[in-house]
Amino acid sequence: MTAPDFDTRAFRRALGNFATGITIVTAKGPDGKKVGVTANSFNSVSMEPPLILWSIDKRSSALETFQNSKHFAVNILASDQSDLSNNFAKPQDNKYADVDYLDGLGGAPVFEGVAGYFECETYQLVEGGDHWIIIGKVINFVDASRPPLVYHQGGYSMVIPHPRIQKAADNEQAADTSCLLSSPLGNNLFYLMIQAVNSSHANFVSQHLKVGLRNSESRLLLVLDSADPNTSPADLQKAVAMPAREIEEAMHTLQNKGLLTGSLENHQLTEAGHEKLKELWDIVRAEQERVFSNLTDSELEIFKKALKMAVSA
Ligand SMILES: Cc1cc2nc3c(=O)[nH]c(=O)nc-3n(C[C@H](O)[C@H](O)[C@H](O)COP(=O)(O)O)c2cc1C
Repeated sequence: MTAPDFDTRAFRRALGNFATGITIVTAKGPDGKKVGVTANSFNSVSMEPPLILWSIDKRSSALETFQNSKHFAVNILASDQSDLSNNFAKPQDNKYADVDYLDGLGGAPVFEGVAGYFECETYQLVEGGDHWIIIGKVINFVDASRPPLVYHQGGYSMVIPHPRIQKAADNEQAADTSCLLSSPLGNNLFYLMIQAVNSSHANFVSQHLKVGLRNSESRLLLVLDSADPNTSPADLQKAVAMPAREIEEAMHTLQNKGLLTGSLENHQLTEAGHEKLKELWDIVRAEQERVFSNLTDSELEIFKKALKMAVSA
């Protein structure tokens, strides 16, 4: 079979537009070995019988255990579990060393604090190119309904409700907010904060796309620029909220575009990198001025104070 005529990196990036949740799929092999793999390929298959699936890379050190164990568990991560996701996304001898877990069905580990989990019997293995698709029959599940960790374009995200305020697609026509703002909800500060973020974020993203960087690339550029030179790679990873492989990917793209040289720990912005950063900051500032131009400096200070209170509450 010949490979299609497109580049794998571009294909992976295009797939990244499909936002998913993040799971850690676990199992205990017949030899007692416990494995776990961060996976976003999880999906539902059937209600009757209750089936789910996920796919595992043939290169994974956990493959043999999943092929040989009769059970596995799918843990759906909550929004505050990106560290757990990072821990199970990198090959290492004992991924469970610093992790609290309980033994689930067939000894497959289940985690506390997750959004939910499914305990499965291995139902079918289907070969799919360089992956195996593993189908499980759900025997037991827990629905904790915590807000989930979301994965989109190589970065961790969270779910916030879709805005009630809809702008025209071209963004030129002002949204009709009069009805909403005079309703009881329109006087609730938390509701207003969510609507405000949603409303300005959409515009910011469309401005931002004009810079020619993906969200993960500009996130990394902004964080690298403001980070202390002694910041550890682990802290940088926290600050950018991206898995290690996506940081590498974004570093690669920024280097290819001539914006950055060196490694994550020892990086240097090129002249073009500084220019790009200036473009990004100009967009941030222009957007802030556009939205808040009617406020005086002292009103802005009070607004900032209120937001900081909400952030650290
Ligand atoms: C967000 C995210 C999603 C991933 N999804 C999958 C997946 O669906 N299947 C898979 O085999 N690997 C996936 N990986 C990669 C594995 O987590 C990683 O390669 C693996 O845990 C490496 O260790 P291992 O060799 O012990 O399996 C994903 C990684 C991340 C960060």
